[in-house]
Amino acid sequence: MRILTIVGARPQFIKAAPVSRALQREAREILVHTGQHYDRGMSAVFFEELQLPEPDYNLSIGSGSHGKQTGEMLIAIEEVLLKEKPDWVLVYGDTNSTLAGALAAVKLHIPVAHVEAGLRSFNRAMPEEHNRVLTDHVADLLFCPTSHAVDLLAREGIMRGVYLTGDVMLDAFLYNSELADRRSVILAELGLRPQAYYLATLHRPANTDHPAQLQPLLSTLAKLELPVVLPLHPRTRHQIEQHNLLPESKIGSLKLIEPVGYLDMLRLERSARLILTDSGGVQKEAYMAGVPFITLREETEWVETVETGWNVLVGAVPGRIQAAARDFTPPDSRPALYGDGHAAERMTEILAHSGS
Ligand code: UD1
Ligand code: UDP
Repeated sequence: MRILTIVGARPQFIKAAPVSRALQREAREILVHTGQHYDRGMSAVFFEELQLPEPDYNLSIGSGSHGKQTGEMLIAIEEVLLKEKPDWVLVYGDTNSTLAGALAAVKLHIPVAHVEAGLRSFNRAMPEEHNRVLTDHVADLLFCPTSHAVDLLAREGIMRGVYLTGDVMLDAFLYNSELADRRSVILAELGLRPQAYYLATLHRPANTDHPAQLQPLLSTLAKLELPVVLPLHPRTRHQIEQHNLLPESKIGSLKLIEPVGYLDMLRLERSARLILTDSGGVQKEAYMAGVPFITLREETEWVETVETGWNVLVGAVPGRIQAAARDFTPPDSRPALYGDGHAAERMTEILAHSGS
């Protein structure tokens, strides 16, 4: 079985690592990196830490408008598919790399498997929502992390090829957590004590792309009760620099740092008193780590984290953020929501028995 995997953005490297490991036993994997993320701290560091094989192809597409970036990926991926003729194309999540990979494959009648299928925010202003909906509707195998995702696909009439596998992010989290505790020295480097800081991440265009939205968010974080560590996504860094949003006097107790590798991130997450984020992956990891978290959006795809009382949606509204950071307390119980840490093996088995 020849599987051609398409990755391009930070969370996809993390999701692909456990799957690549499981696939080694059953398949020849051809790894294609679209180059959507390219800074060392957004790409190479994950390949090294997670022992992902070097990509067989790096398409070096880089940044651009949605149409340009997705279109260039589509052209370049098609060439690779024509040459490699894989039995399956495997795509992850909801980025432009996901959509380009799925579209290139389906046009050439190559079956598509989608990891993290069935997620919906029902917010069509998010670029990810278009990518997810379109990818799910052309995929032949849909690997759902939760039963909620299976139900959402059924509501759209998608029932064939749908599997509840659990979430590969839990596989990665369990595999790497202890390693992170042993190897990461990030707390000492930043002079932080466990439980004595908050961790934040911010990269959704709705929060970052308009200074009128981003500035109050940063000011609110800077005024919270404990120091806030914020590894800056390059999108957010560019906005801060372009609009000169954070003069020294306004930084307060905000610690702005470069994006960190996965092991440092796990260490930072697991030792934080509270996590504030607009990231999909970070919400789940906070839940897995048992750290209360606040989502800086009005909706989430990971609704079960809200239903269990561990996540609170506060949008980008300063008063709501401050109140939640002060008062939010999750319940004692934290049911398993994302499977058993063996999602990747399950996916491999399904692929091996699905033919093409
Ligand atoms: C992308 C995904 C988003 C995902 C996120 C993970 C889409 C539409 N969005 O958003 O779903 O949550 O990745 O992090 O696919 N940049 C750099 N260096 C890099 C990468 C990006 O400087 O290595 C800067 C560029 O200015 C670029 C901007 O960040 O224009 C945004 O990058 P892009 O990949 O387009 O979107 P993300 O916000 O990263
Ligand atoms: N992450 C990381 N370093 C950072 C920020 C995030 O390793 O500085 C990891 C995080 O632990 C999670 C993933 O990147 O596994 C989430 O990616 P991101 O927030 O970029 O995208 P999303 O999940 O929102 O698509």
